[in-house]
Amino acid sequence: MNYEAVLAGLPDAVIAVDASLRIVFWNSAAEVLTERSARRAEGRYLKEVFPPDASVVRRLGETVSTGESRSEPEGFVDRGESRRVPVSLVTAPLFARDGSVEGAVAVLRDLSRIRQLEAEVRRGETLAAAGRMAVGLAHEVRNPLGAIRGAVQLLKRELGTDSRWSEYTDVLLTEVDRVNRIIEMLLDLARPVQLRLVPLNLHQLLERVATLHEEACRERRIGLVRSYDPSLPPILGDEDRLVQVFHNLLRNAFDAMPSGGRLTLTTRVSLNPLFGKMDLGAGQRNMVEAKVADEGGGIPAAARARIFDPFFTTKDKGLGLGLAICHRILEEHRGAIQVDSAEGRGTVVTCFLPIAKMTP
Ligand SMILES: Nc1ncnc2c1ncn2[C@@H]1O[C@H](COP(=O)(O)OP(=O)(O)O)[C@@H](O)[C@H]1O
Ligand SMILES: [Mg+2]
Repeated sequence: MNYEAVLAGLPDAVIAVDASLRIVFWNSAAEVLTERSARRAEGRYLKEVFPPDASVVRRLGETVSTGESRSEPEGFVDRGESRRVPVSLVTAPLFARDGSVEGAVAVLRDLSRIRQLEAEVRRGETLAAAGRMAVGLAHEVRNPLGAIRGAVQLLKRELGTDSRWSEYTDVLLTEVDRVNRIIEMLLDLARPVQLRLVPLNLHQLLERVATLHEEACRERRIGLVRSYDPSLPPILGDEDRLVQVFHNLLRNAFDAMPSGGRLTLTTRVSLNPLFGKMDLGAGQRNMVEAKVADEGGGIPAAARARIFDPFFTTKDKGLGLGLAICHRILEEHRGAIQVDSAEGRGTVVTCFLPIAKMTP
């Protein structure tokens, strides 16, 4: 039996050390988890590979010195650039023939996928609560708002265009419309929508959205770069809802680049191991990726976990609903949305959308 092959095939990371805490074994799941090859790990001391306060260093140290197992359900592994991966870990001693402790082994399980699912469930609950509130609010507020708008319009007409009061009626109208838009957005989140899924040309759709932003691009000196895969197959989507998604994403990218920069739209067939294929109920389907990349300030690490939460915003006039809506719409498409951001260097939002099935 080739035990190394067995360990290599394990989905959990396995790391073994000798009594001096020098790494003697590092399986391929450990390579994936830490983004460090066995060649660059084996033979080194644990402390050279992990920061001294890392769970795995502490626990393996304890196991080697006491000869007892340790477990930590909520540890972490740092993977460079302040990317912290949640892990659960257990350690066990390795004994020599004479009963002395010869080393120790740690098994680490990557919990990020589980954490992500947990966050989605929590988000779903907040959304449902926000939705119930929104429907109630909308009904209470929309009617009086409509009456106010009508009255202001009458007032405006009565006063005539060159009245010195028309400035005030304009403010009233703009603000009433703003409140209406907020309510519409809330209802969008709350409504169970019936998608009208049809085969769509993603590039035409992106161009439709880009056209809406042409003027803003010019004003803010933002260069729009297109990196489209010309052989991209049609996707299966609801055109209006997807326009809404990319509209929101472009808006965020604009907000992130107040003094200009490059905004890149990229499309390609997905090779992503996590989201590249999805089950649409009737079997697996390949996905395409549409990326919106900006060169803005990026998303601070502390905010990253919350950006999809409804009402989470870092902007003075933000509503914090844009990404919550995008998430919801992509979920309805059985797609996915992923945000990668490097502070100070920009943000890439990737939307995964299903390819329309070719007619045979
Ligand atoms: N492209 C981006 N660059 C930097 N931060 C972003 C970007 N997109 C989203 N964010 C962050 O996520 C938050 C939530 O975004 P969103 O849901 O669209 O709400 P809003 O735009 O109203 O704030 C933003 O306030 C911002 O902090
Ligand atoms: Mg937004």
